[in-house]
Amino acid sequence: MDNIDLINKAIEASKNAYTPYSHFNVGAAILTKSGKVFTGCNVECSSYGISLCAERTALVKAVSEGCKDFEKIAVVGGTNDEFVYTTPCGACRQFLADFNQNMDVIMGFLDKGELQHKDMMLKELLPETFEL
Ligand code: THU
Repeated sequence: MDNIDLINKAIEASKNAYTPYSHFNVGAAILTKSGKVFTGCNVECSSYGISLCAERTALVKAVSEGCKDFEKIAVVGGTNDEFVYTTPCGACRQFLADFNQNMDVIMGFLDKGELQHKDMMLKELLPETFEL
């Protein structure tokens, strides 16, 4: 699956974001090495700190379905479908890195209405990753 297809899946997932507090909708789509895609959105809570990010939602869905070999993840975020350049938060970086530090992170955004993306490897986003 190419990066634009994966970004479009993340965009679809972002439509389910539950964001009554921030109104910042995030969607993620994670691709396994066997070609399966799991999507996620952020789900906020009145006790703000326990809100869930889109990336971890997608990852936890995959792991709970028995998949944990990840190749890449696409992330989009914005308000009212105005997707701005959004990078995974620190907690999500560590969570993803526990599975594959070489995972590609595809960050999609709109530039004057056109879909663009910046791609980085997770270990670039989280150097000196904590490992047990
Ligand atoms: N958010 C994500 O879903 N992923 C990130 O990596 C960054 C932040 C969510 C959390 C919260 O619901 C909203 O974006 C604003 O912080």
